[in-house]
Amino acid sequence: MKITSQFLREKFLSFFEERGHAVISSASLIPENDPSVLFTTAGMHPLIPYLLGQKHPAGRRLTDVQKCVRTGDIEEVGDDSHLTFFEMLGNWSLGDYFNHESIAWSYEFLTSKRYLGLDADRLSVTVFAGDDDAPRDEDSAKVWEQCGIPKERIYYLPKKNNWWIAGTTGPCGPDTEIFWDTGKAPCSDKCDPSCDCGKYLEIWNNVFMQFNRQADGTYLPLAQKNVDTGMGLERTVCVLNGMDSVYDIDVFQGALEKICQLSGKQYGADAKTTRAMRIIADHVRTAVFLLGDPVGVVPSNVDQGYVLRRLIRRAVRMCNTLDMPKGSVSQIAKVYIEVYGDVYCELSQNADKIVSELDKEEERFSKTLVAGEKEFFKVISHIPGKIVPGGTAFKLYDTFGFPVEMTVELARENGYDVDVEGFRQKFAEHQAKSHAGSEQRFKGGMAEGGGIETTRLHTATHLLQAALRRVLGDEVKQKGSNITPERLRFDFSFSRPMTAEEIAETERLVNEAIERKIPVTCEEMPIEEARKTGAIGLFGDRYGEVVKVYTIGDFSKEICGGPHAENTGELGHFVITKEQSSSAGVRRIKAELRK
Ligand code: ALA
Repeated sequence: MKITSQFLREKFLSFFEERGHAVISSASLIPENDPSVLFTTAGMHPLIPYLLGQKHPAGRRLTDVQKCVRTGDIEEVGDDSHLTFFEMLGNWSLGDYFNHESIAWSYEFLTSKRYLGLDADRLSVTVFAGDDDAPRDEDSAKVWEQCGIPKERIYYLPKKNNWWIAGTTGPCGPDTEIFWDTGKAPCSDKCDPSCDCGKYLEIWNNVFMQFNRQADGTYLPLAQKNVDTGMGLERTVCVLNGMDSVYDIDVFQGALEKICQLSGKQYGADAKTTRAMRIIADHVRTAVFLLGDPVGVVPSNVDQGYVLRRLIRRAVRMCNTLDMPKGSVSQIAKVYIEVYGDVYCELSQNADKIVSELDKEEERFSKTLVAGEKEFFKVISHIPGKIVPGGTAFKLYDTFGFPVEMTVELARENGYDVDVEGFRQKFAEHQAKSHAGSEQRFKGGMAEGGGIETTRLHTATHLLQAALRRVLGDEVKQKGSNITPERLRFDFSFSRPMTAEEIAETERLVNEAIERKIPVTCEEMPIEEARKTGAIGLFGDRYGEVVKVYTIGDFSKEICGGPHAENTGELGHFVITKEQSSSAGVRRIKAELRK
């Protein structure tokens, strides 16, 4: 009988529950309090404050299954093991047990017949080799030996391999990683678990978090010693079933069948078809989880929305190469909503939104996909070299909606490269021309021109900042901002939570400015002059010589790329829905405009 994902989720959580761990639910895929990363990439991410010492309400032993998105290896998707979305099984000690218990439990869970019953002879482990920052982890190696892993399958590796940190600062430490021997022949006599030839598959990582890495690169000891582990669910289910590819496990079967049915082609027929089908299966699954997430992302040209757009558009293009009919993406999505609906109820709850956003994005892109491809082939038939010019990539982006990564992929399929640097230059020129503002960060994507809702929320953001400065003082400075059609989010420097009175006063000031029906005016002027008028905004080098200054009567004057409402009277009723901490010294407000 095949082992399912649900079997592993339940086994894992109950194993750790029996050992005193509280089962907590998966956090959002969009990190709530960390503007430095786009997605939750590991189970520890939402737990960072607790690893640093804050008390977790559920106790000092936790376990969960966390939804994760990692797009760093997106090019590899389509092979046997890479995915952009995955579930991470994890267990944590927040200053409670340490490496001895952690290793012994991992060994027991993996090998005991009562749990996964994997063949211990096919496990290898790595431990930290030691350097100036932390000692060689002989202690963990000894525990592995006591469990029954022979010395020759315990490898000491340096920081590059056996140290874990999310990003560049914060809680971190040496880790021990557990590998499954896939049975493939070693690629050389030097082949070991650090090699990515495919012989060794990492299935679990136990991090012994005892340091806090500072921005200057130094490591301070944490007040408590923690354990943070992560096991890849899809990979482990694959190993448990003796399968060669993660795409063979239960969660993908419905989607792959649907793809075969819609394309009239067979999975596995040839390498190209298999790869295209896997990319569709992977990308649609990730898109479903992003669209269905409680925080919610929609396709756009910046940040998470841009990644989502790239995933959907790439899936649409792959569907097209397999001659699948219009609407295929959302049909595949429905299969996933069904497969995961019981485990992640947000997918069933947001099913309509997921389907309609996918259909809309497919519709938007199908209009230009074929014409864009035609343009691409026309251009390459005329260029002498094997490099697609940056200007062509920019035209494909700007006119045909091709994310630049897609142009690169299309070019590669046809034996060409793209002058990506040239693309970036064209992009930057375009940005300068349109006086792009501080929120329009370059992530390979261009900022959203904005629908009517986002435009209004953008103007409301200016009113909010002006009101906050009146209520809390001029030291309030914008730290970040994000707008979806439903709400605005505004991060600003301020060192304590706002009181209920301050929140009410801020709302009142904004609503008063709305009721006064003040016209919003825009002037272009050199940056120095803008500064002299007292306009607020980031005076960094992101701005060109000439900037736009938006003025809302005597209430607000800000440098910004726009666009804005013409009059505050268009905005509706302003409501602050949340005031919370964003990071040290930074508060975050979420607010809406209601009819
Ligand atoms: N945080 C560790 C990882 O993601 C467990 O590998």
